[in-house]
Amino acid sequence: MAKRTSSRPTPRPFLKWAGGKRALMDDIMQRIPDGPIELFVEPFLGGGAVFLDLARQGRIKRAILNDRNPELVHTWRTVQREPDALIEAVQQWAVDSETYYHVRDELEPAALSPIDRAARVLWLNRTCFNGLYRKNRKGKFNVPFGKYKRVNLADAENIRAVSAALRDVTIHDFDFESIMLMAGRDAVVYCDPPYVPVSKTSSFNNYDGLPFGMPEQARLAEAFSALEEQGAFGILSNSWTEETLELYERHGLFIDQVFARRNINSKAGKRGPVPEVMVTTRPWQTAAPRVANIR
Ligand SMILES: C[S@@+](CC[C@H](N)C(=O)[O-])C[C@H]1O[C@@H](n2cnc3c(N)ncnc32)[C@H](O)[C@@H]1O
Repeated sequence: MAKRTSSRPTPRPFLKWAGGKRALMDDIMQRIPDGPIELFVEPFLGGGAVFLDLARQGRIKRAILNDRNPELVHTWRTVQREPDALIEAVQQWAVDSETYYHVRDELEPAALSPIDRAARVLWLNRTCFNGLYRKNRKGKFNVPFGKYKRVNLADAENIRAVSAALRDVTIHDFDFESIMLMAGRDAVVYCDPPYVPVSKTSSFNNYDGLPFGMPEQARLAEAFSALEEQGAFGILSNSWTEETLELYERHGLFIDQVFARRNINSKAGKRGPVPEVMVTTRPWQTAAPRVANIR
């Protein structure tokens, strides 16, 4: 992956994705060891904000990206391989409510050409309410029309910049566990899973109609704590709940409290800073107390 030069456009997320990490980027970057990264692994890719920030800094030599959502992964791969065809295809549908529900409900992804299938994901992401990705029990994307006055369907320069950042990158659509096993010596692994809900109704953590409940959270905590033995450095975000703390304290990992401004809650009053956990497999700063006792 080439180093950034001043004339080269810098890659930014091309999708709005629930749990996008902009609000926590400084906290994340502080914890990642300085210098070039031999292998960067992101098992829960989503909009890929952390990968793209590191790519923008020119620090990644090789990367493995992954998300269990096949539509999302297909779109990333299309950006990687055919950015110009995608930029053209996303302009094909008029932005109005009638077209929105036609594209959403009547265009079956499997029946579309590979380019149109990715264009549909990008188009729906830009035109739907709040950039949410949510499916109903039947596996159908069910977010309503966003009614935006102006929609930028594709920032062509950015999509080309993301495509360039993906040159030496492998993108999978597996479950996170097999991906984490690929992280050997000198790998940096950033995990941003669906969060442990802070209450029964409050949290948005259903990205693809498949559950990510406590058994998956426990499986993740095991895989995460194994990274140290694999020789990799791990960093993980999750919600600040008793359950999360129990999962990670049990493994003797390094836990800090950080604050993020979340905007996935549709009630404006609930968008203030919320505490989250940030876990690392090793101490990330020699001067800091290691396990913060802040409950
Ligand atoms: C919090 S989001 C990641 C957001 C991302 N960090 C960003 O900046 O946009 C969590 C992602 O995990 C994916 N996911 C859910 N279950 C998974 C699993 N078992 N294995 C891999 N990915 C999974 C979801 O599809 C979703 O995109």
